[in-house]
Amino acid sequence: MSEKPWDGRFSDRTDTSVEAFTSSIQTDKRLYPYDIEGSVAHCRMLAKVGVITHEEAGELAEGLWRIKRELDQGNFKFSDSLEDIHMHIEARLLQEVGKVAQKLHTARSRNDQVALDARMFLRDATGQTIGRLQDLRKVLVALAEQHTDTVLPGYTHLQRAQPVLLAHHFMAYYEMFSRDAERFADSLKRTNVMPLGAAALAGTTYPIDRAYTAELLNFPAICANSMDAVGDRDFMLEFLAAASICMVHLSRLCEELVLWSSAEFRFIELADAFATGSSIMPQKKNPDIPELIRGKTGRVFGDLVALLTLMKSLPMAYNRDMQEDKPPLFDAVDTLSACLDIMIKMLPTIQVKIQTMRQAASVGFLNATDMADYLVGQGVAFRAAHGIVGQAVAYALSQGKELNELSLEELKKFSKVIQEDLFERLTLEQIIARRQSAGGTSQENVRAAVAAAKEGLAGTGIAST
Ligand code: ARG
Repeated sequence: MSEKPWDGRFSDRTDTSVEAFTSSIQTDKRLYPYDIEGSVAHCRMLAKVGVITHEEAGELAEGLWRIKRELDQGNFKFSDSLEDIHMHIEARLLQEVGKVAQKLHTARSRNDQVALDARMFLRDATGQTIGRLQDLRKVLVALAEQHTDTVLPGYTHLQRAQPVLLAHHFMAYYEMFSRDAERFADSLKRTNVMPLGAAALAGTTYPIDRAYTAELLNFPAICANSMDAVGDRDFMLEFLAAASICMVHLSRLCEELVLWSSAEFRFIELADAFATGSSIMPQKKNPDIPELIRGKTGRVFGDLVALLTLMKSLPMAYNRDMQEDKPPLFDAVDTLSACLDIMIKMLPTIQVKIQTMRQAASVGFLNATDMADYLVGQGVAFRAAHGIVGQAVAYALSQGKELNELSLEELKKFSKVIQEDLFERLTLEQIIARRQSAGGTSQENVRAAVAAAKEGLAGTGIAST
């Protein structure tokens, strides 16, 4: 049990059960580098405007850096009675530099302090996330580059639909993760705003210079309204929303890796180093990594919903409820980072079964649309062509054949305009090559998309920055 900053107002000591219940130190201790950096900037600002002397600011800053080293080395003793990281550091500073430490909290509240720490933490985490996404996008582009000749079935409703290039499939994920990177970069604009100086909620009577604090801490802007500065957690919600969408994308990729590595598909084989076995079934090779990423997606959604629910209907400005923001925030940051990191390592190691993919794309009438398009080229209206090919498919099914395995005579029964040149049109090569509409799967398009992506990734990789 330690002395509390509010002891003046209270005649009874805090019950130890209350200390345990209200403490957040085990969670928020990871904010310490930001808390210290923020406090040092605050001291320098206070000295600049004459609220404390430069000498005092120097003593405070030196003490704070010493405490940072202690924390870096893991020698710091934490206790529930000091509630959170802010009070721990302030209390330690008093032992370190003596009475001058009592000036540190002038013109400041833990309300604006914790908002500052969270924003500094999250702008770092967001930058790292964008970096990881950049790496993942590079991996996808490299895979696409290797597979501009690999054909697999494209699916709708998980039914074989039309052949596509595997490169095109990978580049679809590239697009998703590129949007994610842009979303994070956009949210960063609103995270990167400096709340300190709002104090408890109303601002302060001291002649503080918030722009100077912002400059010292490398913030391009300050929060415009002191109540919003301490009451706002939109920046966290935006990160969590972007993280949730990114996890959706990861989960879809993972689902395909799980399906593709099954005996039913056999499109890929995972590297031994990135798969696990069974404790009972000797033959098993399980895709646990994609399964776990798929599972962790639910966790990140939970983090978003937890924070949305926490913030819903909170009256202005700061409420202690908001201390509960950090567990979901940290969990989402950690979970997303771990998922991206392992995906970046695992994806380049998959072995693609090019022949199995091609075989799958050759069976199941994936060329039916192309036969209809051929008929349109011969002057048949598309709807009529669709009906003709539908009949041909039904007939081929009854014969246990593919459309391209029927004879010209058999095919001519369905339409007189069909000629020998139809067979060429039904080959995988033609089906792919002719899909030259913008964004379509022709080699030409896909190679251009890969080249453009490589060029983009050489810079920041984000169109908006
Ligand atoms: N540990 C608190 C939090 O994370 C810091 C702010 C506390 N403010 C207060 N007035 N009790 O939200």
